[in-house]
Amino acid sequence: MRALTGIQPSGITHLGNLFGAMLPIVDLCTKNPDSVCMLVNLHALTTVHDAKQLSQNTFDLAVDMLALGIDPKETNFFRQSDVPEHTELTWILSTLTPMGLLQRSHSFKDKTAKGIEASVGLFIYPVLMACDILLYDADVVPVGKDQKQHLEIARDLAEKFNHTFGETFVLPEPQISETTAVVPGVDGEKMSKSYGNTIEIFADEKTLKKQVMSIVTDSTPVEEAKEPKGNTIYQLYCLFADEAEKREFAERFRAGGMGYGDAKKILFEKANAFLAPLREKRMQILAKPDFVNDVLAEGAKKARIIAGKKMSEVRRKVGV
Ligand code: ADP
Ligand code: TRP
Repeated sequence: MRALTGIQPSGITHLGNLFGAMLPIVDLCTKNPDSVCMLVNLHALTTVHDAKQLSQNTFDLAVDMLALGIDPKETNFFRQSDVPEHTELTWILSTLTPMGLLQRSHSFKDKTAKGIEASVGLFIYPVLMACDILLYDADVVPVGKDQKQHLEIARDLAEKFNHTFGETFVLPEPQISETTAVVPGVDGEKMSKSYGNTIEIFADEKTLKKQVMSIVTDSTPVEEAKEPKGNTIYQLYCLFADEAEKREFAERFRAGGMGYGDAKKILFEKANAFLAPLREKRMQILAKPDFVNDVLAEGAKKARIIAGKKMSEVRRKVGV
C-alpha cells in the first residue's frame, strides 16, 4: 500500500499545522515505508508571488519535516517543482477535465471569497493535486475534511482517463480524519497564520513564552472555579499531556485558586518540554544546509523514476 501526502510551504508553521497535519504525516510515513511526502511549492505559487519567500518557505518546511522525523531513506520526500512530470500531466488531464467539475470546487470559491486572485492556476489547482497523486499509484491519501472534494476530483479524473485511454491510474482512497480537533489560536479562534493568532512550533523559548502568555482569557478572579472545557489554555495543554495530566489540570481549573497566569506558565513549561528537543534537532539540521539540499535532490531523483515511468505510459496512450 502506498500512502501519499502533499504539504504546502505557505509560511511559518504553527501548532495547528503540527498537530493537524505535520505529525500525522510523519506518523503515516513512519508506519508505511515507501510513502510519498511532497512539498507542494507549485500549489503555494497560487498564493505566494515572492520568489525569495517561496523558496525560503519551501526550504524551511523541508527542515521542519526532517526535524519532526521524516526519514528520507524510507519516505519519498521531495519538492514538487523538481519533478516536471507533475505539470506535464496537469496539461494532459486538464484536456479531459470538465469546466463544471472545477466550477463546483468549494476551495476555489472559499479562496476567491477571501480575496485570493481568481487565476486560472487557482482554478485548476485540483487538477495539479490529482496529478500529484496519480503519478505515484497512491492507494490512500490522508486529508482533512476540507480536501475531500479534491480527492473526489482526482478519482473522477483517473476514471475518465482510464475509460478514455485504457487502465492507467489507480483510484486513490481518501482517508479522512474526522477526529483531528481544531487547534485554537491565542484568541480562541481556529489557529491560522491568516488570523495572526499563532503559536509557532520552532520559535525560540522567549518567543514561545511570549506567545503562550498572550492567550486571551476572561476576567474570572484567581480564587474562583473555572471551566476547563472550551478554555484555550486547557485545550492547548491537552495537545501535550497524557490522560492523567489532563485530568489533573482540569481538576485544578475546577477547584479554583489557579489563576490564568499560572495556568499559562504550566502550559508553557509543558509545551516547551515537548518542543525544545525538536527545536534543537531543527538547529542541527539547519547547520547543514547542504544536507537538506542533497536530501531534496536525491528525493527528486527517486520520484522522477516513478513519475517518469508513469508519464511515458501516459504519453504513449494519448499519442504524444
Ligand atoms: P493556515 O490556516 O495557517 O493557513 P493551512 O491552511 O496552510 O494553515 O494548513 C495546513 C495544514 O494544517 C492543513 O492540513 C490544515 O488542516 C492543518 N491546520 C491548519 N490550522 C489548523 C488548526 N488550527 N487545527 C488543526 N489543523 C490545522
Ligand atoms: N491541497 C492540499 C492542501 O491544501 C495540498 C496538496 C497538494 C495535497 N497536493 C496534494 C495533499 C496531494 C495530498 C495529496 O492541504
